[in-house]
Amino acid sequence: MNKKELIRKALEAQKKAYVPYSNFHVGAALITEDDEIFTGCNIEISSYSPTICAERTAIFKAVSEGHKKIKAIAVVGDTDFTYPCGVCRQVIREFGKDAIVIVANSEDEYREYKLEELLPHSFGPEDLEKSSSRGEKNV
Ligand code: THU
Repeated sequence: MNKKELIRKALEAQKKAYVPYSNFHVGAALITEDDEIFTGCNIEISSYSPTICAERTAIFKAVSEGHKKIKAIAVVGDTDFTYPCGVCRQVIREFGKDAIVIVANSEDEYREYKLEELLPHSFGPEDLEKSSSRGEKNV
């Protein structure tokens, strides 16, 4: 997996951010298990709550095209090292329990984490599998 390429793609996607309200531009690029790259930007809506983050745009694009396993995701924003918000960390968790999260300022300046480091002791799909096998206790 080429980290610099992923960061480059995130920087390209950032230019497409639709951010008339915050003016805060975020871009994301992810690579799937089968080595496909999907990108996303944040998109803001005048009534605010429908706004979507760049990471989730990229993830939902991938999943809606049939790619459910994320190997790595790169994120870039307007601040010095823009980290994924809590909601996006949970969404990454759904499709990338072991994903690498790259938080970048540029191709050469980036930090790298395991998702587990950014979202420790997480809840995920496996927890629901466990609960259904426990039977009556959870009805
Ligand atoms: N934003 C993202 O796109 N990703 C994050 O992880 C943090 C926040 C966006 C949402 C909103 O459009 C803007 O940044 C300001 O919060």
